[in-house]
Amino acid sequence: MSQFRLTRLLAEDATEAALRADVLGGLTAHPKTLPPKWFYDAHGSDLFEQITDLPEYYPTRAEREILLDRSDEIAAALPARTLVELGSGSSDKTRHLLSALTSLGTLETYVPVDVSESALAQAGKALVEEFPGLDVHALIADFTAEMALPDTPGPRLLAFLGGTIGNLLPAERAEFLASVRAMLSPGDALLLGTDLVKDEQTLVRAYDDAAGVTAAFNKNVLTVVNRELGADFDPAAFDHVALWDTEREWIEMRLRARSEQTVKIPALDLAVDFAAGEELRTEVSAKFRRDGVRTELAAAGLELSHWWTDAQGRFALSLSTAR
Ligand code: SAH
Ligand code: AVI
Repeated sequence: MSQFRLTRLLAEDATEAALRADVLGGLTAHPKTLPPKWFYDAHGSDLFEQITDLPEYYPTRAEREILLDRSDEIAAALPARTLVELGSGSSDKTRHLLSALTSLGTLETYVPVDVSESALAQAGKALVEEFPGLDVHALIADFTAEMALPDTPGPRLLAFLGGTIGNLLPAERAEFLASVRAMLSPGDALLLGTDLVKDEQTLVRAYDDAAGVTAAFNKNVLTVVNRELGADFDPAAFDHVALWDTEREWIEMRLRARSEQTVKIPALDLAVDFAAGEELRTEVSAKFRRDGVRTELAAAGLELSHWWTDAQGRFALSLSTAR
């Protein structure tokens, strides 16, 4: 019998305190920034799912192609009894991996971890129907914070898909990979999705689509701050900006004030001035090369054992083992 459980590791008041701290710190900094995890309320999670279907947004299709081709190989390399997935969202692509691991007969528990309760609830309920015998223990948690995983048997495979690691800044990535290593025992493995460096036009189009869905996703963070902290951001007063930083090899999403304006944030007793044209950075999305991924993994005590790309070489999945 399958079972679905949803556990909140993040107390609601801790989430609000974290949002307050991030908004206060980020909007009083120069240049202004907000961390990307605040995009994902129910509407933001839904907008992200729409992004994954856009003709310009290739990463989801490329990673799905790899998972479709390689899930049996991944399962054979790491016949996991527990699959943990960080930032699992809809768990859509993960189905290929769940299929391979359940066919092999080893998998008992799937632990999807996300800040989005709506995404976890929707995905978890569907998965227990689809995979009879699988326990789904979903966790509402912040993967950048310390987190106690359920005490399920190894070997453990920890998946971090979608290229979401690119949304962490380099220092955050190092800290994150070290904490991933701490969650694993020797012989366990990390399955990591990384978007790869490619021509600027393809990259910028993926983050500035013709239909304007990514612009709506970007502006959704303002709606979240309005709702949660009583702010009076006017999303229409900002333009969506996506640009490629050649040196750092990352895409930056920003919101550019169309005119001079002051935004009030009553919950913080704060008024934030924007000059005309001033930009607020809302996300970085780093793109990777194989050597860089290998080096970052090794620094955290993870040894790269497999590297797979889609046929067009746009996106990579790597498997690395905890030493
Ligand atoms: N893995 C899915 C979803 C990627 S979107 C895919 O490949 O399509 C990024 C996901 O990470 C979202 O579901 C978002 O809610 C979640 N997320 C972002 N920051 C997070 C954080 N700090 N802690 C936990 N989940 C986070
Ligand atoms: C979740 N993450 C990997 C996405 C990305 O491509 O960086 C988020 C996103 N931002 C804009 N479009 C999609």
